[in-house]
Amino acid sequence: MNYPEQYSLYVDLVEKTLERLLPEQEDLCPKETGVIPAHLCESMRYSLLAGGKRVRPVLLLAACDMLAGSTEQGEVSAAALEMIHTYSLIHDDLPGMDDDDYRRGRLTNHKVYGVGHAILAGDGLLNYAYECMLADALRWKDNLENHVKAAQAIANRSGVAGMIAGQSLDLLSEHMEPDAQRLGYIHMHKTADLLTAPLIAAAYLCGADEEKMQALSRFGACVGLAFQIDDDLLDIEGDAAQLGKQTGMDAQRGKMTWPSLVGVDAAKARSRELWDEALAALDVFGDAAWFMRGFAQQLRERKK
Ligand code: IPE
Ligand code: IPE
Ligand code: MG
Ligand code: MG
Ligand code: MG
Repeated sequence: MNYPEQYSLYVDLVEKTLERLLPEQEDLCPKETGVIPAHLCESMRYSLLAGGKRVRPVLLLAACDMLAGSTEQGEVSAAALEMIHTYSLIHDDLPGMDDDDYRRGRLTNHKVYGVGHAILAGDGLLNYAYECMLADALRWKDNLENHVKAAQAIANRSGVAGMIAGQSLDLLSEHMEPDAQRLGYIHMHKTADLLTAPLIAAAYLCGADEEKMQALSRFGACVGLAFQIDDDLLDIEGDAAQLGKQTGMDAQRGKMTWPSLVGVDAAKARSRELWDEALAALDVFGDAAWFMRGFAQQLRERKK
């Protein structure tokens, strides 16, 4: 199997799992319990199935393969993590947060469904992600404890000391003098936590040893920090049509970013350093990391 083939296999599996877990609904006001109302479901699907890069679920599936585990055990956790990421984007775009009009190449959720339903679509994806993971954990009786640990790893990194903490500091730091320690905290939590989560979740699902767990954690942190610096750089130098979201918004909102702290060139140099560090963290996996190396290279060169 070569890299592009393996990459499409992972992305196809993610898309199929998302479609299976959250199919279209017909009833606006369902007669039975346990059914999602059609309008709510449509607003959740609108953002979820809008063709994001699927970085986080691909990381989870690729880590399962790298650890010689089974991607079947990871597919629901991978899809659930993409639901959590999508909810974070819907809420990130709300008028009370970054107030953005475009996401994933289409109007933002609140521009189509209104602020109220965008909040509910986000809440819905967040809650449904855990409903799916818990139901899935109970399906794997022989590996139940590891599934619970994987869900916990995702919950902690998405939660109030994780992604939400980073988003809180991101908001509080608008129009402030850039500060390296504060910005490091923001990037580690708002972005790196959700990129480390799939790797640690996979490590639990596959029963990885401590050395591999540490290596995955280092890899995730470096990828996450580099990914957000690149996102900040793309907001300055990227192409809005290719990105599927507006550019120039960080400066407009007075966001604390790497380029605002050290300038564009130094931010690029820091990103390069982090990507090198990320690749070095994969050494312990030897040849089994062939896909993960390719994926890191692909992300490092991304234009969207
Ligand atoms: C955007 O994430 C938000 C950041 C953490 C920078 P992605 O760049 O992964 O967005 P999608 O999922 O491809 O839309
Ligand atoms: C978003 O960071 C991080 C999360 C959604 C958790 P940004 O606000 O920089 O992401 P974009 O640029 O809107 O995608
Ligand atoms: Mg934001
Ligand atoms: Mg934003
Ligand atoms: Mg951004």
